[in-house]
Amino acid sequence: MKIGIDALGLAVPDGYLDLADLARARGVPEAKLTGGLGTLAMAVPTPDEDTVTLAVRAAKDALARAGVGPEAIGLCVVGTETAVDHSKPVASFVQGLVGLPSSCRIFEAKHACFGGTAGLMTALDWIAAGRARGKKALVICADIARYGLGTPGEPTQGAGAVALLVSEDPRLVTLDPETVGTYSRDVMDFWRPLDSKDALVDGHYSVQCYLDAIEGAFASHREKAGAIASEPGYTDRFAAMLYHVPYGKMARKAHARLRQLDGDADPDASFDRLVGPSLELPRIVGNVYTGSLYLALASLLATSARDLDGQEILLFSYGSGCCAELFTGRIEPGARGALADVPAALAARRRLDVAEYEALFRARDEDEAEAPPRRPSGFSPRFLGVEDGKRRYG
Ligand code: CAA
Repeated sequence: MKIGIDALGLAVPDGYLDLADLARARGVPEAKLTGGLGTLAMAVPTPDEDTVTLAVRAAKDALARAGVGPEAIGLCVVGTETAVDHSKPVASFVQGLVGLPSSCRIFEAKHACFGGTAGLMTALDWIAAGRARGKKALVICADIARYGLGTPGEPTQGAGAVALLVSEDPRLVTLDPETVGTYSRDVMDFWRPLDSKDALVDGHYSVQCYLDAIEGAFASHREKAGAIASEPGYTDRFAAMLYHVPYGKMARKAHARLRQLDGDADPDASFDRLVGPSLELPRIVGNVYTGSLYLALASLLATSARDLDGQEILLFSYGSGCCAELFTGRIEPGARGALADVPAALAARRRLDVAEYEALFRARDEDEAEAPPRRPSGFSPRFLGVEDGKRRYG
């Protein structure tokens, strides 16, 4: 049975901050952010956008691209680090706003940036076990990545959602659930206390944890994939290697570690070819936490100049705390180009100045406390504010 991603939908805020502008405002060299971190811009949401509105827009985009209605969905998982309630899952809001059927199992998965992949693996297993009975799974990765103003993490923010429609006989990418390599460990690299909107992070340690995780997940994958995966040069078979991208340089470090483990003495030589196209969209959207790896996949499909039909790809997902998985897939014929419209849509976004960005950052706190948010995004649905302690959307 072939199982995988049948369609991919995206939602990104309309405004972005150019990191050259942020560098000037914070008094750091522009090259540190654009070259040192490898990010050019980050998406900035308006206060009427939240994890729910981004998730709904991405879900509707995925359904429209697949040409199916909400009644086709039998499982909906929302992976997010930025839930809107301690109890009610984002998936319930999504069910109402998208019109998912009452027979649909819905829930939210939290594990920092890994929650979306946890949902994807659940969806693959659900279909492989024969429980889907002709229905599809909708896995939505939605987040607003937020660190404090002026902190080292500030240039690694972003916002957006990626929705994956998962089914039998997928039209984009077939995934292999049999050889998923897993690594997990209790570490304190990135966290967010229950009363805080800003993530806290031990930045350099988090980079080390990510690299340890890729090593562990690769070892686990090799065990499951058989002798061929343990031979030096195994990763040469892949046409693209995709990573969780908190910022572009992290993907470069991950690629170097993985290729070195595979016996490559000059891993940078293959970086542009194997990783380059997958960073085109992440570098202008920023970190979207759970959706980051899948934004990299969208980027590959939308921007690769190479023929990818039938080619194998490798994917690595990392969530702080931590859990990581490394898995493989095969691009279906015609998948490249399914998202050809996305780069132009992102290019049409509005460049914010630093004062606007800081005002939006602060307004998010104020507007969540007292309805209604004052700066409309123009997107539907909108977060309308909190009334009687209940979040309202329209
Ligand atoms: N020109 C060019 N490059 C420059 C430069 C200049 N003038 N000045 C510095 N650089 C380079 C540095 O050499 C460094 O590159 P290397 O990593 O290759 O050495 C890079 O720019 C960054 O410099 P610093 O390490 O000094 O930067 P920093 O201490 O201010 O912060 C950070 C970097 C730790 C990543 C910080 O942005 C951060 O904490 N980010 C959030 C955490 C994060 O993203 N962690 C990633 C792993 S965890 C994960 O992936 C989960 C998740 O999504 C959060």
